[in-house]
Amino acid sequence: MNKVLAVALAAAFATNLATTAHAAPDADKRAQDTVAQMTQAEKMLLVFGYFGAEFAGVKPPKDAIPYTAGYVPGVPRLNIPPQWQTDAGLGVATQPSPAPRERTALPSGMATASSWNTKLAYEAGAMIGREARLSGHNVILGGAVNLQRDPRNGRNFEYAGEDPLLAGIITGEQIRGNQSNNIVGTIKHFAFNDQETNRNTIDVKIDEQAGQMSDLLAMRIAIERGDPGSVMCAYNLVNGVYACESDWLLNKVLKKDWGYKGFVMSDWGATHSTTQAANGGLDQQSGWPFDKSMYFGPALKEAVDNGHVPKERLDDMAKRILRAMYANNLMDAPQPKVEPEKIDFAAHAKVTRQVAEEGSVLLKNAGNVLPLTADVKSIVIIGGHADKAVISGGGAAQVHPHGGSAVKGEGPKGFPGPIIWLPSSPMKALQARTKARVTYVDGKDAAAAAKAAAGADVAIVFATQWAAESLDAPSMALPDNQDALIAAVAGANKRTVVVLETGNPVTMPWLDNVGAVLAAWFPGSAGGEAIARLLTGEVNPSGRLAATFPASEAQLPRPKIDGDPTSRDGRFTTDYNIEGAAVGYKWFEKTGKKPLFAFGHGLSYTTYEYRDLKARNDGGKVVLSFTVANTGKRAGQAVPQVYVGPAPASAKAAGWEAPRRLAGWDKVALQPGESKAVSVTVDPRMLAVWEPKTRDWQRRPGTYEFTLGGASDAITSRTTLALPK
Ligand code: BGC
Repeated sequence: MNKVLAVALAAAFATNLATTAHAAPDADKRAQDTVAQMTQAEKMLLVFGYFGAEFAGVKPPKDAIPYTAGYVPGVPRLNIPPQWQTDAGLGVATQPSPAPRERTALPSGMATASSWNTKLAYEAGAMIGREARLSGHNVILGGAVNLQRDPRNGRNFEYAGEDPLLAGIITGEQIRGNQSNNIVGTIKHFAFNDQETNRNTIDVKIDEQAGQMSDLLAMRIAIERGDPGSVMCAYNLVNGVYACESDWLLNKVLKKDWGYKGFVMSDWGATHSTTQAANGGLDQQSGWPFDKSMYFGPALKEAVDNGHVPKERLDDMAKRILRAMYANNLMDAPQPKVEPEKIDFAAHAKVTRQVAEEGSVLLKNAGNVLPLTADVKSIVIIGGHADKAVISGGGAAQVHPHGGSAVKGEGPKGFPGPIIWLPSSPMKALQARTKARVTYVDGKDAAAAAKAAAGADVAIVFATQWAAESLDAPSMALPDNQDALIAAVAGANKRTVVVLETGNPVTMPWLDNVGAVLAAWFPGSAGGEAIARLLTGEVNPSGRLAATFPASEAQLPRPKIDGDPTSRDGRFTTDYNIEGAAVGYKWFEKTGKKPLFAFGHGLSYTTYEYRDLKARNDGGKVVLSFTVANTGKRAGQAVPQVYVGPAPASAKAAGWEAPRRLAGWDKVALQPGESKAVSVTVDPRMLAVWEPKTRDWQRRPGTYEFTLGGASDAITSRTTLALPK
């Protein structure tokens, strides 16, 4: 590499890190000094985690906060507080409990990502961090950023979609927001935990280069942005080794290549050994009753005493944990107290509502069925308990609403159920905003629903798909005959609107016959109000898909999910080398398949123009500039997206996984008639390939083509730029 360019590229990476890392500067030294004063027994305390509820006959320690995910004792003599850990990826969660904490729920992570709004992701994270602290916690177990390789994955609703740049930046901002509250943030699940089927035993096969350019890249970007104090390693095996004892993943990639200074905690039940795990890079066994043994308890002491685990390694484990705590002011800020009465729920409702509004994606709007206008005199709302509530996702991320679930008795009785319905009624919110007569039918009887639809000006079907940790969806189809319901309603009324409240992309056999489709994901605590504001045009939709909607399972790299959901302990492998780093839209473009809705797609009630794309090489960094204009009659927010790929002549030499990648974007508010000049600096990795020989990113010389538009399949301006190595 040319020396000047090498320096410039290094500086570009360094700036990226320097502008985002917030850690207290002396955290390393303080951690080092404290470790020097600790006895071996004190160090051992830090690396062994408890569960906050009774599990497998083991009672939680008395100082744990009841029904929370984790507790690690402190060392009062050295001013080291306990670690009170809670799941809070989408809001402060409660483990299955008779009296759950009632907190603000964000919409799905997929919604936050679909907002493409980095500032909003930060605010959402900061809000959750405040609630976590006022619930007595100082460690958050969320930032979840597993890439969406399969639209049926039961945890996609916790994640941030399929693109490493978008997912990494959005999740990193959310973590940065979490940690602005003197709280340790986490990123999970490291790595390749991209399906729930047989998640504890499945062995994911993936070549290092493909891994570094996909899931690991998303993690790395999120770590650079958010600087989380901890990384949670995943349940699954990767290339034959459990993720929580993988020397390659933990020592080599995370700690050595990326220079990560925080600590690695295991997922609950993901530790499988003492010596191999400790030497493989695991720093803390979490929620030990979920594991087969107290691997980091007495067994670790023995391993350290007899030299199987070096003493320096135990010091390193303790130092990393303490560093995360010092870096996030856990020793200096007042200890968190359980004082939920101080949470400003009204203010937080506005934050979650904004995420729902900016993250919902208007997929179709034929004949301007939406927004609902004054000439609509009667509306029938069908299904989805839309008279009362919106649905939420289950598992460790489950947030409980004030007053409890609005609908009881649905879904599995035990974990990850039951289904929790957040009491935010789309119907009531709509009634407050329209003079039309609004009625409700539950949709259980398709013929009755169609009859009601025939007599109304507009029919709105609320279609739901529950999703939850530990379960993948059996298919991409909506469950419970809802496809037939929608088809019947659409047959009776041309002005049928479908609001999807789903964890995942779904298939839509009725698409041609309905007027409009709004993907609202799991819309969170204020979801009903957000949906009503979008339907009436009080808010102009501005979400863009963070994940492709495939037309069918046959288009996927694995039309059938590997493994067997009925076999808990079965050993299976899954081959991620089929698509490698070509995840999501990259797979579709590489194989020439046409999805139902492309990555980045999303409509609004106005129209935008994206034009005059220019690219220049600014001392090694590629800077893009272009113009965005609002050419319609309503104010709105455009999401200009630039994709990049090697121009045809350079394609072979470039070594890319797919024809194009997302290079950058912005979210731009525009009044009618207004236009703005936008400039975006491209992360140099988006132009490079991770090279196994040098173990880093190198840009290959050639001509690169940049394309600008309002979606990955709506290009309106293009330019090329020749770039040196
Ligand atoms: C999940 C993690 C979660 C942990 C603690 C596990 O089942 O995979 O995401 O943080 O439990 O609740």
